[in-house]
Amino acid sequence: MRLYRLPKHEGFDDLTLTHADLPACGRGQVLVRMRAASLNFRDLAVATGKYMMSRLPPDLVPLSDGAGEVVETGEGVTRVKPGDRVAGIFMQGWMGGEMEPAHGQSALGGAIDGVLAEYAVFDEQGLVHIPDHLSYEQAATLPCAAVTAWNALFGLHPVQPGQTVLTLGTGGVSIFALQFAHAAGARVIATSSSDEKLERVRAMGASDGINYRTHPEWQDEVRRLTGGRGVDHVVEVGGPGTLARSLGSARSGGVVTLIGVLTRGQIDPLAIFGSGAIVRPIYVGSRQMFEAMNRAISLHRIEPLIDRVFGFDEVREAYRHLKGATHVGKVVVRIE
Ligand SMILES: NC(=O)c1ccc[n+]([C@@H]2O[C@H](COP(=O)([O-])OP(=O)(O)OC[C@H]3O[C@@H](n4cnc5c(N)ncnc54)[C@H](OP(=O)(O)O)[C@@H]3O)[C@@H](O)[C@H]2O)c1
Repeated sequence: MRLYRLPKHEGFDDLTLTHADLPACGRGQVLVRMRAASLNFRDLAVATGKYMMSRLPPDLVPLSDGAGEVVETGEGVTRVKPGDRVAGIFMQGWMGGEMEPAHGQSALGGAIDGVLAEYAVFDEQGLVHIPDHLSYEQAATLPCAAVTAWNALFGLHPVQPGQTVLTLGTGGVSIFALQFAHAAGARVIATSSSDEKLERVRAMGASDGINYRTHPEWQDEVRRLTGGRGVDHVVEVGGPGTLARSLGSARSGGVVTLIGVLTRGQIDPLAIFGSGAIVRPIYVGSRQMFEAMNRAISLHRIEPLIDRVFGFDEVREAYRHLKGATHVGKVVVRIE
């Protein structure tokens, strides 16, 4: 079978297409023919060795997010059968309940080998069935970005109809947050670097778009749009450089979910006190969250927004495209 490895962590140009024997499928394990994988911002950090959440082994098979078809099951497997359409969960060890540090050491394409391969073996507990209406390319976008957005909006104080959600930028997590919030009957205010991208998110149901380049004090705009009250949820993917403005956008008692670190800067604890918001860091989500999310995706027939699909021999171009940040939604690799 063909698969990619990162021999070192000095950049995605080092990605190497290589060959290996088909992995054996032991007791409790499942062999999956991977059909598609998707990229996350995290994968750029993994490729350059800057990913902070786990130790990165050499010769890592990259990417956490993929979907495919079960081709073989080991002894004792009951959760799936050959022919089932499945995706791997981001942290292979986090089934439900609170996240514990050990779960982070089971993250695909980080602590352990990922899914950029024609075949991959999973423990049967590390898989979920994918929604019937999704293609493999669409389902491959779910394990990290979608589950993170789901956890942000439904993991602590579930978003309510009529509430307002603020999303930052138009990358993978933020577009899923827009889709889930919209399906839940919430109003969505989106920010972006680009007016063209804001047109796209308005067409997907965002009520308002704010260009953070032309409105550097965008929290004032958010306050104006909410009659001074502030939003109920902020899906905070920006990090230290945006957090103060996200806090300034949230209502007292609202939830600011800390997700990403797209920017650098200093965080003033007084800004957190002053906002009265709940600041909640998250790390993707559990299998239980993934399964709950899939039920909602099926019910509302939500279709992940794919920006571009690359071939299996175009993986470096896919990374370059993600790094260029012209995308809206997800960047996918088809595994033929
Ligand atoms: N904690 C977790 O579990 C978790 C899970 C997933 C992702 N993350 C993190 O969340 C972040 C987003 O991940 P992703 O995979 O969704 O990224 P992505 O698809 O690469 O999206 C990045 C987008 O963010 C926007 N952006 C860049 N700088 C911004 C800024 N200063 N303010 C607002 N938006 C900005 C840009 O969109 P526009 O051009 O439209 O502004 C850019 O295209 C990353 O830091 C990632 O590591 C964390």
